[in-house]
Amino acid sequence: MARLLIEGGQPLSGEVVVSGAKNSALPIIVAAALATEGKSVLNNIPRDSDVGTICLILRSLGVEVYFDSENRLHIDGRSLNSYQAPYDLVRKMRASFYTAGLLLARLGKAEVPLPGGCAIGSRPVDFHIRGFTQMGAEVIIEHGFMKAQCKELIGTNYYINRSSVGTTINLMIAASLAKGTTVLENCAKEPEVVDLAIFLNGMGAKIRGAGTDIIRIEGVESLKGIEYSIIPDRIEAGTYIFATAAAGGDVVIKNVVAEHLRSPIIKIEETGVIIERGDNQIRVIAPEKLKAIDVETAPYPGFPTDLQQPLVAAMCTAEGTSVIRENIFDRFRYVDELRRMGADIKVERETAIIRGVPQLTGAPVEVTDLRAGAALVIAGLAATGITEIYGLDIIDRGYEDLEGKLRGLGARITREETRNAYDIFEQIEKVNA
Ligand code: UD1
Repeated sequence: MARLLIEGGQPLSGEVVVSGAKNSALPIIVAAALATEGKSVLNNIPRDSDVGTICLILRSLGVEVYFDSENRLHIDGRSLNSYQAPYDLVRKMRASFYTAGLLLARLGKAEVPLPGGCAIGSRPVDFHIRGFTQMGAEVIIEHGFMKAQCKELIGTNYYINRSSVGTTINLMIAASLAKGTTVLENCAKEPEVVDLAIFLNGMGAKIRGAGTDIIRIEGVESLKGIEYSIIPDRIEAGTYIFATAAAGGDVVIKNVVAEHLRSPIIKIEETGVIIERGDNQIRVIAPEKLKAIDVETAPYPGFPTDLQQPLVAAMCTAEGTSVIRENIFDRFRYVDELRRMGADIKVERETAIIRGVPQLTGAPVEVTDLRAGAALVIAGLAATGITEIYGLDIIDRGYEDLEGKLRGLGARITREETRNAYDIFEQIEKVNA
């Protein structure tokens, strides 16, 4: 069975370069297939397995997708010819539901499996579906699929019940080619939403207000392919911040937009970590001992739920008691694994109370979800002795060579067995290279 072996207790030092943002790459890859003129060429696409999966899904819909020898991803949507997204690929990842917006916009018909429940609690797509319906699609749920069709999508005013990244993105994709103007209210303001809007506008879309509560999308007749570079991954960068805080050391993180990390940076500074902001990079200097802090997760620009788990891992050995409240997902299952490493964590409903212990000790642990995987790696770096981490395919979904990058910072971390993510990319290169 594939596993990571970490010999903890080694402070981190040196430089690490952050990859492109997974959560930007996924919608932008799908949106690229909206074009019926020319193809898109995307730079800074991370090689994680979620990206591999979305590429294979698009290919199954007839879209031409391949990496060239310079690691640029080419997407040609002109050959899109199927409205049925395959269950075996879609079930792997919730973001594959973005194909619903694409297919409705391009073909007026979509059959996409409903994403199931997952390890961070129920994650419905009711807001997405209500949006499609309001844009004139007839939607039925049958045999686990969302089946939707329309003659054409019509612009509408739609208030999204609660800030939702996925809904904002899916409806932006759908509305770009709709007839008339769509006004989305209570939108997610995440940088990935803004990145998608910039990309779509480059393709010829007319989108205003991305990054605010209200996004206005004037539908256009057609879109064209462009070359584009996606933003750096703020969650990967945050993972290295918390890893350095937990393991100790002095690390320069490159390819970072520090403004995207404002709230995690403010909170980690409260623990005694020094952050020096530079041009496209930050330097993280850990203190001898971290101080406990209180944090609650919130939609952007609040503290991201995707960094809650890495934060908790770092707080396990802080001085004092930290109170961390999770407001977005049901995301505390992994604390059982941290407890096996000696952490003192009590969970009461949405809140984790962490009493700092002097030291974590290495143990065999199992990854329960993507960011829990990052948290266990961080705990392993800080612990004494050997930590064995199982369930690596989940980490590979959202990190490109996490262990290689940490090794570059002096961590003693090795992987037994090959990576699932690499297998996927071999498929994407082989067919069209
Ligand atoms: C995206 C991110 C994920 C991040 C999350 C933070 C991607 C690929 N994933 O996930 O990394 O943790 O944003 O918000 O970008 N909700 C509903 N009905 C819906 C849609 C959402 O009830 O139709 C609820 C969710 O259960 C959750 C909240 O709204 O409680 C926010 O979810 P959302 O922002 O949509 O998350 P994702 O887009 O799935």
